[in-house]
Amino acid sequence: MKKILITGGAGFIGSHLVRLFVNKYPEYHIFNLDKLTYAGNLFNLSDVENKDNYSFIKGDIVDEKFITEIFEKHQFDAVIHLAAESHVDRSITGPMEFIYTNIVGTANLLNAARLIWKDFEGKRFYHVSTDEVYGSLGDEGLFTENTPYDPHSPYSASKASSDHIVRAYYYTYGFPVVISNCSNNYGPNQFPEKLLPLMINNILNKKPLPIYGKGENVRDWLYVVDHAEAIDQIFHKGTSGETYNIGGNNEWTNIDLVKKLCQMMDEKLGRETGESEKLLTYVTDRAGHDLRYAIDASKIKKEIGWEPTIVFDEGFSKTIDWYLENKEWLENVVSGDYQEYYEKQYK
Ligand code: NAD
Ligand code: TYD
Repeated sequence: MKKILITGGAGFIGSHLVRLFVNKYPEYHIFNLDKLTYAGNLFNLSDVENKDNYSFIKGDIVDEKFITEIFEKHQFDAVIHLAAESHVDRSITGPMEFIYTNIVGTANLLNAARLIWKDFEGKRFYHVSTDEVYGSLGDEGLFTENTPYDPHSPYSASKASSDHIVRAYYYTYGFPVVISNCSNNYGPNQFPEKLLPLMINNILNKKPLPIYGKGENVRDWLYVVDHAEAIDQIFHKGTSGETYNIGGNNEWTNIDLVKKLCQMMDEKLGRETGESEKLLTYVTDRAGHDLRYAIDASKIKKEIGWEPTIVFDEGFSKTIDWYLENKEWLENVVSGDYQEYYEKQYK
């Protein structure tokens, strides 16, 4: 049985990936290593937690000794690395955690795998990264795999740094790595600090909807299950040393996207049309706010055969429904430290 370590499996994207692998590959044993920070939640995996081919390991990737011990104990055949501090705004107020987890944590995993695997035959280290490493686009153009790195936030700089270390292991040791850089994900189980779940939560509670700057920044949105499927295909078919960009070919300005959300939520909640839009509030812009991200995903389509399958309207509607049907999940994750975070961020 192949042993696969997935890090960050209790988070947003990680939980969808763990579910996909546990259900699709009974011949693999999936080990989910997660520190369970504010962003990690085992409830995200309650439907797979009792499966024979799934185990959870609680731990911190920054702890070098612990990481070495689990590699020695379990002798993983492959790693899919998602664990990270993932929110740009938090990286602006507290960058050090991003440096530790995203850079040192990634280096610890790479090094433990390198020393324990020795022979790299049949092994794979898959590093999951973001399009934010490429910096910001103007009104035109797309990020390709050859776009020079130009990260602007402590989050994107820490991810860029980890991408470079992963690539350095490939060039220096012939270590079997593969990297993907993906655009903004949306879907169930996303923590309500990111744009869409934050707005959904505020609409539900009739709280102001904070739009940074003029709301003209553009993001390319991909349904999280499509991302998990792209990772599955790259993991199995990708070439060592290569990078693959993943995107939804689905650009939206923030303001248009939030207005669409308001309209759909008014309908679903039986509110008067226009009621939620009244909550829109323009607030001080994010420091160093990247104007536009957009992905050229032709390489993954041509070489791997992946493209998004979920139509945006369908994914968007399913996402809203999930939050409406899982209010307990939402209430649970916004209890505790969330209020403190929210008040500081949106004071
Ligand atoms: P998330 O914040 O929802 O989840 C991160 C998970 O990592 C959590 O379960 C958390 O407990 C865990 N974690 C954090 N620090 C840890 C540590 N020191 N040790 C062990 N576990 C730790 O993040 P996400 O949105 O699911 O993103 C997952 C990965 O995908 C990240 O690497 C991120 O950079 C990348 N990514 C995210 C997006 C997006 O739109 N969310 C887009 C592209 C790439
Ligand atoms: P976010 O979900 O934080 O993702 P990222 O910054 O990694 O792309 O933000 C998406 C966009 O929404 C980004 O341009 C910032 C903007 N935004 C707001 O306007 N208001 C908010 O409250 C949040 C969280 C984000």
